[in-house]
Order: sequence, then C-alpha cells, then structure tokens
Amino acid sequence: MNPLTPVSIRNVTKVYPGGVEALRGVSLDCPSGHVTALLGRSGCGKTTLLNLCGAMDFPTSGEVTLAGQVTSNLDDARLTHLRRHKIGFVFQFFQLLPALTALENVELPLLLSGAKNTEATAMERLRWVGLEEKARALPYQLSGGQMQRVAIARALAHDPAIVVADEPTGNLDTASGDTILKLLRRAADEFGAAVVMATHSAEAAAIADARVRMRDGEIE
Ligand SMILES: Nc1ncnc2c1ncn2[C@@H]1O[C@H](COP(=O)(O)OP(=O)(O)OP(=O)(O)O)[C@@H](O)[C@H]1O
Ligand SMILES: [Mg+2]
Repeated sequence: MNPLTPVSIRNVTKVYPGGVEALRGVSLDCPSGHVTALLGRSGCGKTTLLNLCGAMDFPTSGEVTLAGQVTSNLDDARLTHLRRHKIGFVFQFFQLLPALTALENVELPLLLSGAKNTEATAMERLRWVGLEEKARALPYQLSGGQMQRVAIARALAHDPAIVVADEPTGNLDTASGDTILKLLRRAADEFGAAVVMATHSAEAAAIADARVRMRDGEIE
C-alpha cells in the first residue's frame, strides 16, 4: 500500500437495492494530511461515497482500498478492526451518546479498540479542541458547536489515518462552523489524517486541498 494515500478508490459503482445508481465509475485518492471536499447537489452521491471511505458500505463493482486493505475482501472482524483503528467519523448531528459525559464519549472508541491510558488520551483530545473544562458535561449541557468539537475529539482519539465527515457544519451557525472547519484543517495538518468531507458550504470547500465536484454519481 501507499501509506500516504490511505483512501484509494478505483472505478467504483454503487447500485442500491431498487436500482438507484448512486455512483458510476468513480476513482479518487485522498492523501494523508489533505482535506478532500466532496461537493455537489443533493442526491449526487456524496454520502454514498463517504460511506465507502469509512468502510460502512461497499461498492457494487470496483475497488475501495483503505489503509492498504481492500474493504470488499475483509471479514467482519477485520472490518471492525479497520474502523476502530484507522477511521474517525464526524456526523452532521454529532451522534454523541447522551448518557455519557464529553470525556466518556471521547474515551469510548479507545476502550473499544483496547487502547491503554484511555482517559488521559481522551482528556488530551478534549484539550486539543479547547473543551477540557467541559469534560464532565453531558451532551445536553453543550451547544451544538461544542458537541461537534467533542465529536471531533472522539474521531481523533485513536489517531486515525482517515477522518470522514458528512456535512460537519450543516447544523451549525457560521461562527461555530468556522471553529469546526479550523479543527478539521488541523486534523489534517497536525495528525496527518486524510480528511474526507461532504459539504454544501463554500466556507468548508475553501479549507480543502482538493475540491471534488460530483454530479449524478460521477466526478465532474
Ligand atoms: N440506502 C439507500 N437505498 C436506496 N437508495 C439510496 C440509499 N441511500 C442513498 N440512496 C440514493 O442514492 C443517491 C445518492 O444519495 P446520497 O445520499 O449519496 O446523496 P448526497 O450527495 O449525500 O445528498 P445530500 O446532499 O442530500 O446529503 C440518491 O438518489 C439517493 O436517493
Ligand atoms: Mg448526504
């Protein structure tokens, strides 16, 4: 594998049950340390492509290679290992667990992956997103922007090679969105992650190294 290109997509199609052709002949490389923005109208296939980049779904044909592994060839145990060790996820609606504190939300992926010093690492990530003082807060006690910062700390907890973010600023005001974009930029710059982000926002596109325009399941 090329360690500098943790996401490599070759001539991929995705046909959903029912026959929707969501991706048609897509090839894409997302290098380490780069932010790649997926742009295009609603329904053009951004989330479908991101799901492939996060090993959450698989192509109908073609090949998706994540951190050197072809996702379609992996059994469930290897897929789980790949997701837990190599990939961080950021969602539009944050998806924090409501009964866990900010710190526990960040710690959870570390516990699942069998890491050591989980609490110290989780606290370190919360400090990195500037939320150390909210470590004991529950999600409902946080603003949307703060919840998304916790989600980014969680996504980076295990130092993933790949971070996938689906409309990470889609539910935030401009100022909070700006903070989130700066953090995603720093995730690429400081952690060396390949950040792949679907977005409708011009501000988000502006922080990207590569802007990939999609239309009807194809890259323009
Ligand atoms: N699970 C599914 N089953 C069937 N069709 C699906 C499924 N998920 C998405 N689609 C279809 O695939 C196409 C691409 O959808 P996708 O969600 O990837 O678009 P998108 O670019 O993320 O759109 P948006 O900007 O609205 O989030 C659409 O026609 C959509 O209706
Ligand atoms: Mg989408």
